[in-house]
Parts: sequence; structure tokens; C-alpha cells
Amino acid sequence: MHLEVSQLHKQFSTKQDVFVALKDINIHVEGGEFVCVVGASGSGKSTLLRLIAGLDMPTAGEIKVDGLPVVGPGSDRGIVFQNYTLYPWMTVADNVGFGLKLQGIATAKRRQQVAYYLEMVGLSQFAKALPKQLSGGMKQRVAIARTLASQPKILLMDEPFGALDVQTKEVMQQFLLQVWRRTSTTILMITHDVEEAVFLSQRIYVLTARPGTVKKEFEIELPGERTYQIKRNPQFQDYKDEIIKLLRLSDTEKYEFL
Ligand SMILES: Nc1ncnc2c1ncn2[C@@H]1O[C@H](COP(=O)(O)OP(=O)(O)OP(=O)(O)O)[C@@H](O)[C@H]1O
Ligand SMILES: [Mg+2]
Repeated sequence: MHLEVSQLHKQFSTKQDVFVALKDINIHVEGGEFVCVVGASGSGKSTLLRLIAGLDMPTAGEIKVDGLPVVGPGSDRGIVFQNYTLYPWMTVADNVGFGLKLQGIATAKRRQQVAYYLEMVGLSQFAKALPKQLSGGMKQRVAIARTLASQPKILLMDEPFGALDVQTKEVMQQFLLQVWRRTSTTILMITHDVEEAVFLSQRIYVLTARPGTVKKEFEIELPGERTYQIKRNPQFQDYKDEIIKLLRLSDTEKYEFL
């Protein structure tokens, strides 16, 4: 798997003027990597993810997955959004198996796959439940299971834990790391939460706003396992401080006239 975004430019035009949402974006993700894009609100994070997902087209520049240009949505890219996107009338198992059904995978094989991914996200007992019977964190685990079940080359996530309370969010971060290790999936995740980005990723792109552009790339090297203790590691704090400073700095640059 190789995702390459080069010289990406996206502008939105209104009757009055043109708004540049993304400018000169160059990013890449390699097979098995966990990469985060972190940026303030309005820096164009969701726009970037939508372009990679093929839900919108760039004004200029190119996005390639394994050398092939992205021209629309495709099963090679699985997406998890912030808002739970489960079908409310379908059971948890049917939600997870929905993509497989569309792909024409036979019932027996499908059941096996669904059971496998439900087990992975710890929701085997909830196979027959409806989404409304689940908590927010559980719903998001179903959404992740559903996306993984279709075996995309890359998992694209837009603030997947943004709507969860702090405790649930921490549990979900641990959970996602486990899934990542177990499946060797490639992940590109968007977040405004700097601590989340440092905790999860191997690399981070810091996006600053007006226009959205990559300010800096960080290689996150932390000793040992990524468990909660690591957040108290001075190196962890250093990464976090540096990124927060960068985001704050770019904001003051824009508002220095105030
Ligand atoms: N379809 C659109 N038409 C016009 N402007 C848009 C459109 N989509 C996004 N924008 C603008 O582009 C900018 C970036 O939006 P985007 O949603 O990508 O930001 P974001 O970084 O995801 O923000 P947040 O953290 O709040 O989710 C915003 O100023 C937004 O108003
Ligand atoms: Mg967004």
C-alpha cells in the first residue's frame, strides 16, 4: 500500500469570492503505517480526507493509491466518520456484513467474517442488537468492524472519537492500537486532539489554517509500548508541546494585527 498526495490544492468558490481550503499539500502513507493529520478547526482536515476518499475532487494536484489516481470512492479506502453512520434498522451483525453482502460474498463466508471482526472489537454478544441499544463507543467499534470487514488497503478516519467522552475516548484509542497491531492495517487519521495524535501515530502532519497547509512533519519515536504510562514520558510531553506551540504560533501570525 502506498498513498501519495502531491501538490494538492482545493478551493471553494462562492458568488463573491474564492476560498482556498488546501494549498500545496504533499503527504504520503506507507503500508502498515499509522499516520495522523492534526490541525485546528477549519484547517481543511475533513476536506483533505474527503478528497482522499474520492468524495470530492481536488482543484489541482494528485492523489494516488498504489500508483493509481483516485477518481472517486472505492473499496480500497475504508472510511470511519465522527458521526456514527450505522443503519439504525439493521442489527450489529448485519451492519458489519453489509459491505460484504454488496460485494456478493456468500452467506457462510460472510457470517464467518462478521463473527471474526465482531470478536476483534469485543462485541460478539451484541451481534443481534440494534444500534440504538449501544453506547457511542460501541457504535464506533461497530463502524470500525464494518470498515475493516471490507478489507480496505487503507483505513481513513475523520475524528472518529471526537464525539466520545474523555474516558471512552482513551479506551477507544487503546483499542484502535490493538486492532492496528493485530491486522497490520494502514491508517490515516484526522484529529484536532494533539495528545491523541502523539499517542497513536508513527508520523504526524501538522496542518495550519487559512489556507490549510502542512506546516511540519513529525516522526514520533517513543520508547516501549504505547500504553497510558507513556503519556507521562517527558519525550511524549515534548512532542505534544512542540505541536501545540506550532498550532498556536500559526494562529498568532494570522492575528498579529489585533
Ligand atoms: N463544500 C464547501 N463549500 C465551501 N466551503 C467549504 C466547503 N467545505 C469546507 N469548506 C471550508 O473549508 C474550510 C475547511 O473545512 P474543513 O471542514 O475541511 O475543516 P476541518 O479542519 O475539518 O475543521 P473541523 O476541525 O472543524 O472539522 C472551512 O473554512 C470550511 O468553511
Ligand atoms: Mg473536520
